[in-house]
Amino acid sequence: MTSTNDIRRSFLDYFGSSDHAEVASAPLVPFSDPTLMFVNAGMVPFKNAFTGLETPPAPRATSSQKCVRAGGKHNDLDNVGYTARHHTFFEMLGNFSFGDYFKEQAIDHAWTLLTKEWGLDPERLLVTVYHTDDEAFDLWKKRTGFADEKIIRIPTKDNFWAMGSDGPCGPCSEIFYDHGDHIWGGPPGSPEEDGDRFVEIWNLVFMQFTQENDEIVGDLPKPSIDTGMGIERVAAVMQGVHDNYDTDTFKALIGASESLTGVKAEGDNTASHRVIADHLRSTSFLLADGVLPSNEGRGYVLRRIMRRAMRHAHLLGAKDPLMHRLVPELVSEMGAAYPELVRGQPLIQEVLEREEVQFRRTLDKGLRLLDDATADMGEGGTLPGETAFKLYDTYGFPYDLTEDALRGRGIAVDKEGFDAAMAEQKAKAREAWKGSGEAANEEVWFDIAERAGSTEFTGYASTTGEAEVVAIVKDGAEVASAAEGEEVIILTNQTPFYGESGGQTGDAGRIWTPEGLEFAVETTNKPLGRLHTHVGKVGKGSVAVGDAVHLEIDAERRDRIRANHSATHLVHAALRDRLGDHVTQKGSLVSDDRFRFDFSHPKPMTEDDIAVVEAEVNAEIRANEQVSTRLMTPDDAVAAGALALFGEKYGDEVRVLSMGSKGEGGRNYSVELCGGTHVKATGDIGLFKIVSESAVSSGVRRIEALTGEAARAWLVARDEAVRAIASALKTSPDEAPQRVAALVDERKRLEKELAEAKRALALGGGGSGDAGPADEDIGGIAFSGQVIDGLNPKELRPLLDEAKTRMGSGIAAICAVNDGKAAFACAVTDDLTHRFSAVELVRAGVEALGGKGGGGRADMAQGGGPDGSKAQDALAAVREALARENA
Ligand code: SER
Repeated sequence: MTSTNDIRRSFLDYFGSSDHAEVASAPLVPFSDPTLMFVNAGMVPFKNAFTGLETPPAPRATSSQKCVRAGGKHNDLDNVGYTARHHTFFEMLGNFSFGDYFKEQAIDHAWTLLTKEWGLDPERLLVTVYHTDDEAFDLWKKRTGFADEKIIRIPTKDNFWAMGSDGPCGPCSEIFYDHGDHIWGGPPGSPEEDGDRFVEIWNLVFMQFTQENDEIVGDLPKPSIDTGMGIERVAAVMQGVHDNYDTDTFKALIGASESLTGVKAEGDNTASHRVIADHLRSTSFLLADGVLPSNEGRGYVLRRIMRRAMRHAHLLGAKDPLMHRLVPELVSEMGAAYPELVRGQPLIQEVLEREEVQFRRTLDKGLRLLDDATADMGEGGTLPGETAFKLYDTYGFPYDLTEDALRGRGIAVDKEGFDAAMAEQKAKAREAWKGSGEAANEEVWFDIAERAGSTEFTGYASTTGEAEVVAIVKDGAEVASAAEGEEVIILTNQTPFYGESGGQTGDAGRIWTPEGLEFAVETTNKPLGRLHTHVGKVGKGSVAVGDAVHLEIDAERRDRIRANHSATHLVHAALRDRLGDHVTQKGSLVSDDRFRFDFSHPKPMTEDDIAVVEAEVNAEIRANEQVSTRLMTPDDAVAAGALALFGEKYGDEVRVLSMGSKGEGGRNYSVELCGGTHVKATGDIGLFKIVSESAVSSGVRRIEALTGEAARAWLVARDEAVRAIASALKTSPDEAPQRVAALVDERKRLEKELAEAKRALALGGGGSGDAGPADEDIGGIAFSGQVIDGLNPKELRPLLDEAKTRMGSGIAAICAVNDGKAAFACAVTDDLTHRFSAVELVRAGVEALGGKGGGGRADMAQGGGPDGSKAQDALAAVREALARENA
């Protein structure tokens, strides 16, 4: 028997040997496509290569692409378990030509592989072509020698393949396998075509056109080829079975669920085992690609699939959560081809188990409610929508789970009633919100969120993406479009732009279209905590609601933000290590050029504290350990030792960031709850430097720090400063600190000496001990007046005291001039204070110096003025005042 793994390998090798580059499967989440929920065909990752927007990886390529059809336009969920060929997850094998070869070679390759390499019996094969495609008809005829009736012309869209309403498209040709007349059904185009005898195994699309809104609007740059073969179908053919669920992979998965539940896949239980096997694949692959269960968007589709499977596990009587225990079997079947499954296994198991434990808490009660509500109903009955809504709202039953649960009994669900109950609940939430006092001008965001749902953030995994514009806001109101020069806010259904939150600044970048839009995103905000709003200006072209646009964040800026954000986590851990567990984060601001981190601590950090924290963080950076993210409930996360920010609101589930070296019990250096964007490994932070430590408020300190290139540039600038100092001192940078210290000491000594010299001078020449300057006699009063440049004003009083002693009876005045300004003081010996006031005399001098006032006592007063050049005038003013008083 040829295993599914062998078939995949053989397909890729066949095309590899004819110059097709083997391209790994793209992730299931199509960040590059706004219209798709999940990748649902092999060509999706190559869409832009076909239209010429991107350069293809090679002129020819081949891949085995993971696909999910659930939730979006193609939704196979309802049928899975009950048919032979419906899956939520499947693999599509394909070969692609980007303007290289076209119909003839595509047909030749397909025929050669199927009949020569794989040895399928040509008798069992037949093909279809688009009814007007004579060329394909003739090529098939020539290559296969088929009779005309085995090359069937089909006039419908079945043979004209389009990716969606917009994108590349073209006529196609499908290859069918005849499973034999023991199965009912007819060839395509016949009245019995819906039977299951003839099964399409390969679709060759002759990509030629592009369409918009389902209308062909032009030719592709070059005719191209896109083919898709469902591996599950071809495995059934090659393994001689009719039903995909009887192929090796599914048999192994169903076998595992049989043995874990102890229930055989027989009778009514068959569908449950099939649902479990299929849903195990889609949920595990979605989890491996980063989708996590939530109540909206892709996350909700995942949750619906999970819960559907979990109900079937319950139906089989599984006492304990089942799904996570099947993951090892899936990994052993498919892990070699898809290493992301192996890498993601712990996370997949953990999330599946947690979700199942959680759902089991309400599942029983919900099923009882459902039984009661339908007890009197027979086949053809309808469950009221309100009951379905209650099951959804209170017991976590996705709508389609309720439908599935009633399917076997032929009971329908009132969808309209369900929708109405849902709308009513939303209206109530809105009323409650209005009453909560949040800013009324935020109402526009509420309208948008209600209509378009939350913005899906794709930026943990990607820095670019495509999206649909769901709203444009200008001056607080919604508008339909915006033209060149307008400043508006653009909202899209998904975005790689991080909206400012949790201290992390919003992303900047551009939004553009091939039609000429250039929108510069200055920043991204996050109103209501769930809309990402791109704020900026239309630089060129125009944009309208409904447009498909490309989004591209400034990735280098984001890298700097990541490094800074991850560094806050390391610094938090280092501060706790060094200062103690009382340290908790009190706030942070992470931008692209620096970050700050506020934390509780009662006193300033010492130089040593700072040095140790810096060294510890840098050691973690150099250890370059991978950063891992896991999703947990807030309680589990805290129990696992994650640091939670006091006062932050967390939803159902939180991201837990583990970073740095492993310590006791395998716990990472830093474990924190965080929704921000982070480096892949700590080494990406590069370098860490604290540039300031200060107080924010009582008991709260703030560190400002730099990482990476900014830290390096800061250190280089410091180094240059030290070199400049060293060069001015004519020494080496290493010697500079001692030299500076020596210079400072020397300066102190010189200042002291200078002061002494000036004092000595004032006292009468060179400190020789001679008498002071000759006293004047003004009307019988001895007067001593001096101007001393550079005299420290503090010296005025002691000098005047000495003058008084020397004079015995008299009046002294000194003007000290420094930097052009003057300090002025007068002293009057006690015997004269009844006649002269030092205060009056100083005021006269100060006035001459261009100043005002002056104060002190009658025997000693001081003042000052701005104009030191008038020092002599000040003395003259005192002389005059003396003479006046004396007269
Ligand atoms: N795109 C085509 C399909 O999905 C062929 O790959 O069927």
